[in-house]
Amino acid sequence: MLIANISPRSMGKTTDTGLMGHAFHEAGYPVKLWDADESEHLTQWFELAGFPFGVEKNASAKFAEEYTPLGDSGIDIVDVGHTENHPHIADSVLKVADLAIIHMEPSMADYQRVHQPRTSTPIKTMVGRSAFDRPSRTAPPLWVLLNRVRTNVRSEKQIRDLLADDDYNVFTVKIPVLDDIKQATGFSVENAARGPFGELVTEMESRGLIKSA
Ligand SMILES: Nc1ncnc2c1ncn2[C@@H]1O[C@H](COP(=O)(O)OP(=O)(O)OP(=O)(O)O)[C@@H](O)[C@H]1O
Ligand SMILES: [Mg+2]
Repeated sequence: MLIANISPRSMGKTTDTGLMGHAFHEAGYPVKLWDADESEHLTQWFELAGFPFGVEKNASAKFAEEYTPLGDSGIDIVDVGHTENHPHIADSVLKVADLAIIHMEPSMADYQRVHQPRTSTPIKTMVGRSAFDRPSRTAPPLWVLLNRVRTNVRSEKQIRDLLADDDYNVFTVKIPVLDDIKQATGFSVENAARGPFGELVTEMESRGLIKSA
């Protein structure tokens, strides 16, 4: 199955994609990552660190036509070029994604850039319009993963409430703001499944979002 990690610029997609990939791998799933961002940040991390699974580049509007899934039990995860300047890549990925995850900090700035951006298309609109291009004629499920979450600040509850009012699904698991995570890209990853990314895999399984083990 294909998980599309999607967001406006600099909201943690690449970091979360790498760490999610490792958490799924440690949980026993075959994993393949896709780098659909022209910056090739995920590919650079892979080349520097050497992941125990592959990363393939395809930052194009032909992603949907060129993507080959791992197969029934595999988890493909794609780091989608940010939606502000590269909507054509996101539109193509969303034609074939089984699950779309928005990555954002629980701040008003990130909320507005996701939900009511001034100069680009809201992600929910992009996901909704993908239905027309999909064989099922239904959009993939859309979930929000809160990352860079600080403890003891009011904004997390306020942003969760706003997202709920706007009918977004929001994972209970959140990714804390941590220097270890900030510095993750470029280095090898160990024990991703022991932390919040492992909890995220468990939550996705328990919510029935993962097709098969
Ligand atoms: N949990 C975290 N704690 C602290 N810093 C984080 C965390 N997650 C990501 N960051 C930092 O936030 C910044 C943005 O992360 P990242 O590069 O993964 O985002 P992105 O959405 O892929 O950005 P781009 O759109 O430019 O590709 C980076 O400086 C990264 O180190
Ligand atoms: Mg990135």
